[in-house]
Amino acid sequence: MNPQAEFDVIVYGASGYTGRLVAEHLAKRYGVGGAVKWAMAGRSADKLAQVRGEIGAPRDTPLVIADASDPASLDAMVRRAKAVITTVGPYQLYGEALIAACAAAGTDYLDLTGEPNWMARTIPAHHETAKKTGARLVHSAGFDSIPFELGVWFCEETAKQTLGRYVPRVKGRVRAIQGGLSGGTAASGAATMAAAQKDPSVLGVLMDPFALTPGFRGPEQPRGDQPHHDPDLDAEVGPFMMAMINTKNVHRSNFLMGHPWGGDFQYDEMTIVTPGAPTEFTGLGEGGPKPGEGPTPEEREAGFFDILFVGVAPDGRQVRVSVKGDKDPGYGSTSKMLA
Ligand SMILES: NC(=O)c1ccc[n+]([C@@H]2O[C@H](COP(=O)([O-])OP(=O)(O)OC[C@H]3O[C@@H](n4cnc5c(N)ncnc54)[C@H](OP(=O)(O)O)[C@@H]3O)[C@@H](O)[C@H]2O)c1
Repeated sequence: MNPQAEFDVIVYGASGYTGRLVAEHLAKRYGVGGAVKWAMAGRSADKLAQVRGEIGAPRDTPLVIADASDPASLDAMVRRAKAVITTVGPYQLYGEALIAACAAAGTDYLDLTGEPNWMARTIPAHHETAKKTGARLVHSAGFDSIPFELGVWFCEETAKQTLGRYVPRVKGRVRAIQGGLSGGTAASGAATMAAAQKDPSVLGVLMDPFALTPGFRGPEQPRGDQPHHDPDLDAEVGPFMMAMINTKNVHRSNFLMGHPWGGDFQYDEMTIVTPGAPTEFTGLGEGGPKPGEGPTPEEREAGFFDILFVGVAPDGRQVRVSVKGDKDPGYGSTSKMLA
């Protein structure tokens, strides 16, 4: 990071649906002019000033103007920050110049991308530069994929303590979830589908559990897409829509840490099918939210998630841990996690 930078954190995309929640969280939690120095950033000064008023942030909350299509404005912005949080997505359309600028300047970078085809490009493009400058580049720092990555880590640490070893097999099982989708998330899914239509090799990246571990391939992974009876839980399980993103990030964490859970580690994510329990997202399909739109404040407050992680040792012994969160996972919870 840039130790001398003027701001600890800049929230880029603060005028968008999720970025505004991140800024609101920072304003409530840290105020302005206190220990954490932060700013709201985006391409439109008017829009940022309006959002600053709407979220109740102080009038002197600094605003920084930078357009994703103007690399010089991004370079100037990232040099003013120790860390940049970006919610400007779809990332495959608007994100490239910003992550490149952060890697080059040594500015820490966090995003919310759930676009593995884009991450598979950014990792080889910027990893070495970031190592040289000290920039820490963190993808998927929201509901995708923090509760899942930390859940697996917590499960493995618990296995080490109680069974005396890390386990080669973990199952992520969503017990209950209630949440919605925003326009930016719908647009990002659509951008990934459009990329796959244009270049069929993108589909191979999306289907590959090891798409984000350059130079390493582990064993065949459980498919995770077929409903079945899971004997380890004695429950019916079905596909979970975020698994394609989270499983790749979990394998990348194991890879970056030097494979503490083994080179033969296996992981899948599925939903436990409990009649009557909420296990889905609203806002999918035709007529979904437009950019800037998303769940209402009431829907955000009513949301939650509860995920079970089951670690299975080679001798069949199990450890079980869970990760729970309040508020809508993708927005109410995500904005806290990202901030
Ligand atoms: N990982 C997770 O769990 C998770 C959770 C939530 C969201 N997400 C992801 O987060 C992203 C944002 O979603 P959202 O619903 O918040 O999107 P959104 O409401 O559409 O907001 C997008 C933001 O990008 C800005 N923007 C667009 N083009 C720009 C440009 N050329 N220069 C500068 N800024 C530009 C917009 O600015 P204007 O206001 O000026 O148009 C807006 O602030 C999506 O990719 C979504 O998939 C991921």
